[in-house]
Amino acid sequence: MSDSEFSTDLANLALEIGREAGALAHNGQDQVRVEDTKSSPSDVVTQMDRACESHIRTRLAGVRPDDDFIGEESGASESLQSGAVRWIVDPIDGTVNYVYGLPNWAVSIAAERDGEVLAGVVVAPALGVDYIAVRGQGSYALRGGQKHRLQCSRQDELSMALVATGFGYRRARRVEQARVVSALLPEIRDIRRLGAAALDLCAVGAGLVDVYYERGLNPWDLAAGGLVASEAGAVVSGLRGKPASDAMTLAAPAALCEQLERRLVELEADRGDSAD
Ligand code: IPD
Repeated sequence: MSDSEFSTDLANLALEIGREAGALAHNGQDQVRVEDTKSSPSDVVTQMDRACESHIRTRLAGVRPDDDFIGEESGASESLQSGAVRWIVDPIDGTVNYVYGLPNWAVSIAAERDGEVLAGVVVAPALGVDYIAVRGQGSYALRGGQKHRLQCSRQDELSMALVATGFGYRRARRVEQARVVSALLPEIRDIRRLGAAALDLCAVGAGLVDVYYERGLNPWDLAAGGLVASEAGAVVSGLRGKPASDAMTLAAPAALCEQLERRLVELEADRGDSAD
């Protein structure tokens, strides 16, 4: 089997299981129950985050028992073997939207091997869209039985850019994020805070926003949506030549990425401890 057939198989498996988990969450959205909190009292875990992750983990283990796994709610499997596939899962990205009955939440599943994301899906049942990407083969939106290839925006002026961003849950982090966003706001078209990082990245891929940046992403927020954005022609990176990470993730068409990167460096948008 070629590498591209292998990656396509992983993407199709992720889509099948992501849709199952998405249906579970969608059907249960009006019975949501907060069961726990994480980094702050507003960073919540619901019974459905746990149920969906458990469903995804069990299904993946049934089909591909030798793969590694890391999930937002249940953590990582024991060992990361070189050459092994690792699944990176956020059962419900946009949990706060989910709790409030807002539609902007998604199941995010990516398959990575040796640090390279091969396939990713972001399934958003309440929006009626699934995003799928396979490394080297483009990214697509699946909606109402139709499949559309994604292409990021061609905007090349930061002053005309619609910029999506997000905020962490901790107070000290938010103080810094507020400082950066208030400096940027007069210099751009406008800001959007949609509430689910994986969907923000897909929105860049789909050209629904021009740019997305955020400090503090976890691997499960970034992996699948990052591939959707990059396969749609966006540059996905960090600051100062570093790859996208919790320190900073930036996704945009190349010309915009350069301008925003310069501005975020000037603003020291990655200032402070990464645990703030
Ligand atoms: C959060 C969302 C939010 C982003 C936060 C993430 P969660 O994930 O993606 O948009 O701003 O950084 O932690 O908690 O909903 O899975």
